[in-house]
Amino acid sequence: MKFKITKEMRKITQEKELNRQIESILGKKTILELTPIIIKKADLSDKICFFFDTDDNASPFDINMAYDAGFDIVVPISKMTADQVPKLVQDAIFSRKPKAPTTFFIGGSNVKEAEKIAKEVIKSLIPPFECPVIIDPRGSHTTASAIVALTLQVARIHGFLDLSGKKIICLGGTGPVGQIAALIASKINAKVIITSRREQFVKELAEKLTIKAGKGATKIIGEVADTDEQYLKIVKDADIIWSVGKAGVQILSNKIMNQLPPNKIIVDINLVPPYGIEGIKPKHDNNEIYPGIFGIGALALGRLKANVEGQILKEAAATKGLKIYDYNYAFNVAKTLLARE
Ligand SMILES: NC(=O)c1ccc[n+]([C@@H]2O[C@H](COP(=O)([O-])OP(=O)(O)OC[C@H]3O[C@@H](n4cnc5c(N)ncnc54)[C@H](OP(=O)(O)O)[C@@H]3O)[C@@H](O)[C@H]2O)c1
Repeated sequence: MKFKITKEMRKITQEKELNRQIESILGKKTILELTPIIIKKADLSDKICFFFDTDDNASPFDINMAYDAGFDIVVPISKMTADQVPKLVQDAIFSRKPKAPTTFFIGGSNVKEAEKIAKEVIKSLIPPFECPVIIDPRGSHTTASAIVALTLQVARIHGFLDLSGKKIICLGGTGPVGQIAALIASKINAKVIITSRREQFVKELAEKLTIKAGKGATKIIGEVADTDEQYLKIVKDADIIWSVGKAGVQILSNKIMNQLPPNKIIVDINLVPPYGIEGIKPKHDNNEIYPGIFGIGALALGRLKANVEGQILKEAAATKGLKIYDYNYAFNVAKTLLARE
């Protein structure tokens, strides 16, 4: 009797042969188990940063920093004023789920208005729609924090325990950066003197800053200075000199620096030549510039400032609910980052 080998029979024979070969390799029958994998849907909400800037054009510096820190969308709103805050903030928060990753960043050259904006933003965050708020007009909070933290680190290298009781001269300190640096320094009990070409203005500013620094802080003093003689008289017995005046303006010349006694730390944050203190270079990082006078330049300082801002933006992007990132927070971040190095 003849068998007709069908296509089906050939397929079964081939499968049996394949199984036999697998068994000969693995030595036993294989059993494949399918275990259900539960995939948790990731939170795909975009991280949005609303950047309120008082200037005509929102700063590309802070916009880039926010993207680099991981925000998916940065919404720059320029010419921002405090009276526009409630509507914009509430439209931004009520359109998303409570605790959605929305951050408000307040910047701009008009520091007074930026402070008002910050207050309004915090007031407009209705529970449970609260969000993180970063306050850093013209980079003042992060830059000033970096100045004080780096000075503290270098001071310790030179045998100071801390900055308490140390005489700090804040040259040209009436700008946003100088004011916040003076504020932090007075809170850690340094003796701070802000210089300015405007006598009345600096005296009133020093009083206002002292009140702002609060209980337990040291009194901030305002002094007029515009000539070499005035500057020399003020900086001669300082422990620390911060040059925080306008970019591209030299405040202390070589002639003044050569007359100073040793045991001083100088910080110049001006990156635009001529620098604020003659002889200092942006890359200097605890270099001896004059005998016994050690300097920190604008690049060394700028690196820490950028790291502080980046860290704060990253933290804010991952924060749910209200958290305020101002100079108090930035100063702690700066100290922590330096301690890790
Ligand atoms: N390295 C960094 O990472 C970094 C980051 C941010 C900012 N910065 C730099 O930080 C510095 C301060 O910034 P800011 O925005 O706070 O400063 P600013 O407001 O531009 O200027 C500060 C003060 O400088 C004084 N000034 C102006 N022209 C002067 C002159 N010819 N002689 C003496 N004083 C003069 C003014 O004080 P009076 O009118 O009261 O005398 C002014 O209030 C700038 O150099 C900026 O570029 C550096």
